[in-house]
Amino acid sequence: MDTPQAADTVLDDPVGRSLRGAHAGLARRRGRTATYLPGVATFAAVPSDPAPGDWADLAALLGPGALADLFSAPAIPPADWSPVFALDGRQLVGPVRTGGPDPDGVVELGAADVPEVLELVARTRPGPFGPRTVELGTYLGIRAGGVLVAMAGERLRPPGWTEISAVCTAPEARGRGHAAALVRALQHRITARGERPFLHVADDNDAALRLYARLGFTERRRVRFTGARVPTS
Ligand SMILES: CC(C)(COP(=O)(O)OP(=O)(O)OC[C@H]1O[C@@H](n2cnc3c(N)ncnc32)[C@H](O)[C@@H]1OP(=O)(O)O)[C@@H](O)C(=O)NCCC(=O)NCCS
Repeated sequence: MDTPQAADTVLDDPVGRSLRGAHAGLARRRGRTATYLPGVATFAAVPSDPAPGDWADLAALLGPGALADLFSAPAIPPADWSPVFALDGRQLVGPVRTGGPDPDGVVELGAADVPEVLELVARTRPGPFGPRTVELGTYLGIRAGGVLVAMAGERLRPPGWTEISAVCTAPEARGRGHAAALVRALQHRITARGERPFLHVADDNDAALRLYARLGFTERRRVRFTGARVPTS
């Protein structure tokens, strides 16, 4: 296990770098702006120095009245875009972790598991998740008595990095090491590809912050997640 040393500036724009790179096949683009296909993710990317024309492109891409989920981008939308949310959080980077096969009980989740995945997400609220989010990467789960009780997966893919996301355990299955096992299994896969893991967590999520610290993740920067509504006219 060691700490990431690779250039990490791509982590300043993880959404844009994913949409222009590994996730180009899941992207819709207009000019210098981009977003994910409906149901995959709500995130949208604008350049770091957005001009009025870029906001016009994003408005055309998303449509009137739509949510522009800017993720952690510091860009400030025009005055007639109404703020929808602002949430303070942290971006953490994780150690590489070489390892063997997945622990017993860890399974890969696919399209057929989406209804169960969405049910677990609704119960645990790990963050935004849509019916096609599992297409972004590998999603792993743990079942108890045939029922999905824990999962975690890969989301943003800026060059050289993979974001671990949707880490969640049903309340009745917590404190058994499920989340730790799943994050470790993802770290092994990411490391095996020659990439580094990173993730995002809200400032007030103490249980998750403890979990990630125990697994060796350290803070790279503070972030603020923001969303705004595209004007209707
Ligand atoms: C954060 C979350 C994923 C943790 O899931 P979990 O499966 O309970 O995690 P773990 O079991 O690996 O670790 C949880 C605790 O159990 C402890 N634990 C793990 N295995 C244990 C065992 N065999 N015996 C006793 N305690 C154990 C861990 O030390 C940890 O203790 P701590 O919280 O005091 O540090 C879960 O609380 C959750 O789903 N939260 C809501 C969704 C969310 O916020 N996700 C994160 C988004 S960034």
